[in-house]
Amino acid sequence: MAQMRMRNTKGSNATEIEKKIKRGNALRQGSAWRGYRGLVPWLLVALCLCGVAMWLYINPLDSDITETLVHQGELVSPHPRVYTVRCSEDYENYKRYPGCTPQKCGRAVTDSVVTREEAQVLRRLAEKGLALAGSEGGASILDLHSGALSMGKQFVNIYRYFGDQIRDAFTQEDFQLYRVVRGRIQAVIAETFGLNPTLMYLTKPTFFSRINSTAAKTQHDEYWHPHIDKETYGSFDYTSLLYLSDYGYDFTGGRFVFMDQNGNRTVEPRTGRVSFFSSGSENLHRVEKVTWGTRYAITVSFSCDPAHAISDPTLP
Ligand SMILES: *[C@@H]1O[C@H](CO)[C@@H](O)[C@H](O)[C@H]1NC(C)=O
Ligand SMILES: *[C@@H]1O[C@H](CO)[C@@H](O)[C@H](O)[C@H]1NC(C)=O
Repeated sequence: MAQMRMRNTKGSNATEIEKKIKRGNALRQGSAWRGYRGLVPWLLVALCLCGVAMWLYINPLDSDITETLVHQGELVSPHPRVYTVRCSEDYENYKRYPGCTPQKCGRAVTDSVVTREEAQVLRRLAEKGLALAGSEGGASILDLHSGALSMGKQFVNIYRYFGDQIRDAFTQEDFQLYRVVRGRIQAVIAETFGLNPTLMYLTKPTFFSRINSTAAKTQHDEYWHPHIDKETYGSFDYTSLLYLSDYGYDFTGGRFVFMDQNGNRTVEPRTGRVSFFSSGSENLHRVEKVTWGTRYAITVSFSCDPAHAISDPTLP
């Protein structure tokens, strides 16, 4: 009996121990699960952070920018994307020219007026011309009409200063393309704002620009200040920009920003993109500072006043 009991005790002892071991395992598993459960909120936080990071990657946080009107990667074709705004009273201080003076104001962007290839030819023209000299600061201009070219802290007249050397840099075809492109821009502005294109006149300044991140040396290099074209140049009625390089690829910063009361709206430059707008204070704007790379563009301006007309540039 005693032996039996002993065996029994032993047996029961053994099962007790097994039970304990099992319970121990269960407890350990339980606490391990509770440990993982403690991680769940952290996992969710991590997921959220990943989501926010992704969102920021897609929509960069830019407190100054309310809306991107057109991204670099978009193709606005075949029709311009038009944003109308109420005309300011600026035009009332000037003689009115029916068929041209802004009745309808706004801004528009199109990628179907100038091809990428044409823009690349014009960019090489800009590169060659600006390589002749250039500003000491980060912003240089070349005006084929007046011949003005940034040099150091001032300007020279390329036609006088470089003489026959000019013909090594520019060809008749370059100038021909420039005239054709100017005509197409004039036509799209007229169509968009309901104007008679023959009553719009090319005016000055109309110029190529090259901007990089080098610090400004003179006031001429400070392109980033907010301004109104009609205030700066009374003759302007319509301003257009033809971009010759790509935002995000050729340069960073350098976006064009319309500064409205209720927010800043930006246009991202794209090679061959034309953006145009009525020149009054309904279109207060600025260009962001270029932070990296080189930004090329052409500014083409139009006046309704024939007294301010300039003719297309020609090779001397
Ligand atoms: C900007 O362009 C000028 C003229 O080509 C050059 O000398 C300067 O090094 C450039 N700056 C930067 C930051 O690349
Ligand atoms: C527009 O941008 C300027 C700086 O570039 C900033 O001072 C201003 O607050 C912005 N406007 C709005 C409405 O966000």
